[in-house]
Amino acid sequence: MLKFPDGFLWGTATSAHQVEGNNTLNDWWDWEAAGHVKNREISGLACDHFNRFEEDFTLSQKLNLNAHRFSIEWSRVEPSEGEFSDSALYHYRQVLESLHRHKHVPMVTLLHFTLPRWVAEKGAWENEKILFWFERYVRKCAQVFGDLVPLWNTMNEPMVYMFEALMTGHWPPGKISLARQIPVMRRLIQAHAQAYHAIHDESQRNHWKSQVGLAVYYRLIQPWNPHSILDRWAASLRDSVFNQLFLNAIHTGIIGFPVTFNQFDPNVKGSWDFIGLNYYSRGKVRFSLGCPQFLFTEEIALPGTEKNFLGWEVYPEGLYDALVDLARFQKPIFVTENGICTDEDIQRQDFIKRHLRELYRAIQDGVDVRGYFHWSLIDNFEWAHGYAPHFGLAAVDPVSQRRFPRESARLYGEIARNNSLEL
Ligand code: BGC
Repeated sequence: MLKFPDGFLWGTATSAHQVEGNNTLNDWWDWEAAGHVKNREISGLACDHFNRFEEDFTLSQKLNLNAHRFSIEWSRVEPSEGEFSDSALYHYRQVLESLHRHKHVPMVTLLHFTLPRWVAEKGAWENEKILFWFERYVRKCAQVFGDLVPLWNTMNEPMVYMFEALMTGHWPPGKISLARQIPVMRRLIQAHAQAYHAIHDESQRNHWKSQVGLAVYYRLIQPWNPHSILDRWAASLRDSVFNQLFLNAIHTGIIGFPVTFNQFDPNVKGSWDFIGLNYYSRGKVRFSLGCPQFLFTEEIALPGTEKNFLGWEVYPEGLYDALVDLARFQKPIFVTENGICTDEDIQRQDFIKRHLRELYRAIQDGVDVRGYFHWSLIDNFEWAHGYAPHFGLAAVDPVSQRRFPRESARLYGEIARNNSLEL
């Protein structure tokens, strides 16, 4: 029996665009309409979670979960510049109230990749004004929802956004350019810090208790050939840019190379109360002259290892390594995402047990982990891959919209109910 600390949060995570359906006013809606998603799929009605959130939270409660992470869709709340939608604000208050009624601690993400169309049309993260727009939106959310939200993520995986939107071009705006990446990274760091301070301003004024952090993607990165100096250099470069740069900037206030020449920004320093860790897999990286757009580094799938439906290696030990690495920042940590897309539910059950064992090991070794949010509650729209990858504890019938909890849902619910994992 591996017993988790009292008060440990057990939840699942979702994001607005992936589950709500009919997010017609954002950049992804247009990206899908232009045929950029695999098999030209579109998100469409998704899981109709916009209308079925009560039912989904009832399912989550039945599984004995006590927390839920979801995102607010900026394009619903502010459909045109400076104009906030009362009905959308009301909707998300209903969502939050429903979570409280279902005895769930809500964790809100304010930006999970999608941007309102009006922001995208003005250049998205390439326009310096986004700092003002984003802060205004965040402040509004803090004012309207602050009494109901104990845990905020300013944004989800800023480096993944940067990577997919400006390095691979798989996501909107799909412009591949090194020159664009640098100012965008700097702006994402500043936007996070401004959001952090805006939420705290509002909650202090109203005597609400809120903790603010962000969810970072952390891929364990190792050299393809540990004996090659070039591969070691490539792996450490990837790790320092994709895993560490954002974290170090927030910790020290120093925005490192290549974003700036170690510029110090006092507003950025210490702008977190907790760290959200999204962990999925490990990457073996080698030096490659053929990949200048990826800083001359290339990731290669390790043959003979267990993979998920999308070919990502299943590597539970990496969760332990990531947690131990993050512990140096001396902040509470939530695993804000961890999960597997597979059509074999038995593989998901095994994935959950093996990852929770690593999480437990990290806690035993002194890492302050406060909760675990499995990705995801229900199968949903997996960005450029469409609907084929199934990450859910429950399947969703796209026609009837009925939810079918899998055996892994039962297993995860048992673990949450006992606050322990039986090996
Ligand atoms: C993202 C989710 C995504 C999941 C699985 C995370 O990087 O935050 O939106 O669905 O990974 O790919």
